Amino acid sequence: MTAPKRKLQSILVTGGSGFIGSNFIRWLFNKPDFTGRIINLDALTYAGNPCNLADIDETWGQSRYFFHQGDITETELVRDIFSQYDIDTVVHFAAESHVDRSIHGPAEFIQTNVMGTFILLEAAREHWRGRDDVLFHHISTDEVYGSLGKTGKFTETSPYDPRSPYSASKAGGDHFASAYFHTYNLPVTISNCSNNYGPYQFPEKLIPLMILNMDAGKPLPVYGDGMNVRDWVHVDDHNDGVWRVIKGGRNGRTYNIGGGNEQHNIDVVKTLCAVYAELKGIDHREIEKLISFVKDRPGHDRRYAIDSTRIRRELGWKHSVSFASGLRRTVRWYLENKDWVETVRTGEYRRWLEKNYEKR
Ligand SMILES: NC(=O)c1ccc[n+]([C@@H]2O[C@H](COP(=O)([O-])OP(=O)(O)OC[C@H]3O[C@@H](n4cnc5c(N)ncnc54)[C@H](O)[C@@H]3O)[C@@H](O)[C@H]2O)c1
Repeated sequence: MTAPKRKLQSILVTGGSGFIGSNFIRWLFNKPDFTGRIINLDALTYAGNPCNLADIDETWGQSRYFFHQGDITETELVRDIFSQYDIDTVVHFAAESHVDRSIHGPAEFIQTNVMGTFILLEAAREHWRGRDDVLFHHISTDEVYGSLGKTGKFTETSPYDPRSPYSASKAGGDHFASAYFHTYNLPVTISNCSNNYGPYQFPEKLIPLMILNMDAGKPLPVYGDGMNVRDWVHVDDHNDGVWRVIKGGRNGRTYNIGGGNEQHNIDVVKTLCAVYAELKGIDHREIEKLISFVKDRPGHDRRYAIDSTRIRRELGWKHSVSFASGLRRTVRWYLENKDWVETVRTGEYRRWLEKNYEKR
């Protein structure tokens, strides 16, 4: 297959101030073969933090990096950004992303994950008008496929079977992205990835929550019997996969990205206890005492596992970060970046934003 001729010079990254988006932007600016500019459109919900990219803003701000605080559901704003920057690529990360929050309040999930995706697709279709050197890459999750039994893995042809309002809303976004390819021939690719971990993840998610709770001597809440299985992948490996799809993925095609690393939740927590204890020079049993099993999440999917054969074979993707070393690096990062944790916990970054962006 010949590689698609994509411009990749004016890239709209949505949700670029969140966990994976901010890691993607930093990762891309560190790649010598990337010569384009990035426009980050992020509403800065509770999960978006501009401090995640303070260094990038310092180096590339107003030359190759442009930040816009705004909502992807605002049609006029999205259209303006397409015209102002002549966007040729969209990498669509923006989403409401936390399953527990979706159980308590699904409306925002439908608004951002379905309506927001639709508004972006429409703006792309209107602006690109049949061009073939452009791409809309939609970021999604393995959760759209539902839950697995003891064996088997999700492939790109597994039927969709979402079980939570979060996964249902992501599935809705995926279907719209795919429909725009089939109906309007819009150049679209989709990637469905398993659970990510790494720096800058909002501390409501399992790994940072556990690290910060153990550091504060607080209980480590584990859902149900702790035997749910997730397939963990380091955020840099996910982003490498995303970039490979953007550069070489076939239009209309979905690529699954997984860690090849299935872990029971309780084992992840115990490994974190061991790494933390070792770094602090204490007995890991002292930390494990904090583990507290809590009532299971409703509709809690039992097992996810991803078959990444397609992206490996077609695009040469492979992991570069092992779970052992990635987890160790991640624990260290949270312990060494207490200022970041504090800005996130207190919402202090909103003041940083006012100070840094009032002049623009
Ligand atoms: N975290 C994971 O393990 C994982 C795994 C697979 C796929 N994904 C997908 O990757 C993407 C990013 O996930 P994440 O973990 O970085 O999420 P996150 O919650 O850390 O970040 C989401 C970002 O989107 C922004 N945002 C939310 N609503 C918006 C709106 N209406 N307009 C503009 N910006 C808005 C937030 O401010 C935030 O910066 C999501 O699409 C998610 O479904 C995540």
